[in-house]
Amino acid sequence: MAFDSRKYRSLDRPAAPFSDPTIIPHFPAGKVPRHVGVIMDGNGRWAKKRGLKRTDGHQAAEPVVFDTIAAAIEAHVRYLSLYTFSTENWNRSPSEVRFLMNFSRDIIHRRIDQMNQWGVRIRWAGRRPRLWKSVIDELERAEEITKHNKVIDVVFCINYGGRAELADAAAAIAKEVRDGKISGDRVTEKMMSDHLYNPDIPDVDLVIRTSGEMRTSNFLPWEAAYAELDFVPELFPDCGRQVFWRCINDYLHRHRRFGAVPASGE
Ligand code: IPE
Ligand code: IPE
Ligand code: MG
Repeated sequence: MAFDSRKYRSLDRPAAPFSDPTIIPHFPAGKVPRHVGVIMDGNGRWAKKRGLKRTDGHQAAEPVVFDTIAAAIEAHVRYLSLYTFSTENWNRSPSEVRFLMNFSRDIIHRRIDQMNQWGVRIRWAGRRPRLWKSVIDELERAEEITKHNKVIDVVFCINYGGRAELADAAAAIAKEVRDGKISGDRVTEKMMSDHLYNPDIPDVDLVIRTSGEMRTSNFLPWEAAYAELDFVPELFPDCGRQVFWRCINDYLHRHRRFGAVPASGE
């Protein structure tokens, strides 16, 4: 079956904020997660089910990425981290890796005006070595253009690995110890947090993973140490605003304890 990319690209669903306000669920102010991370998984399976190529699945995910950003804005989420390409994804076929590099760069390029209009501050979390220079250049350009936007920070996690991030933080701290800036026996949790890729971004409150897989695959291990986890069965290209809002609603019913005993003693 031939893949008609226009069908998925040009969107027969609303492409932009804002939805009809009557369809946006009421989320109580101050209760929604401040920072949501999404492991956008299942593109390959979505394509396979339709007899398409894996890369067609990635293309079909594009409108869903923007529906998800719109849904987050509409729910007043302040930070959204999107797992786009992991440090382990280099182990895929060279042609898929090549596609994902070109596609990530092109999406940012094509959609930057739209994101800017929405008030999105674009950020990047990931490791520089190995990542294509053209991708880094596009991300840095987008960060610069959108740096004053305040509606939502959208963090594209590209060439991101949680272990790599922690190793990079440890190496940066070791250098400061070597340079005599801090003492080695004074390494604290705060110091680790301060050396992550985006130290100003608060911890993750909610991690959503699509496609039914129940693992976190090296996504934000430090930042999401106390996050609520929501594993949803839908493959990412089948998702959209409704799935995101459902997860926010689930989160509102969770009881976060952070290791303490609630005052009621429950
Ligand atoms: C997620 O979908 C996208 C990336 C990891 C880049 P997958 O490509 O992992 O799709 P599945 O898990 O093989 O279905
Ligand atoms: C996690 O998905 C990475 C991204 C969504 C970018 P994977 O599909 O790479 O994870 P595993 O291999 O199933 O754990
Ligand atoms: Mg996968």
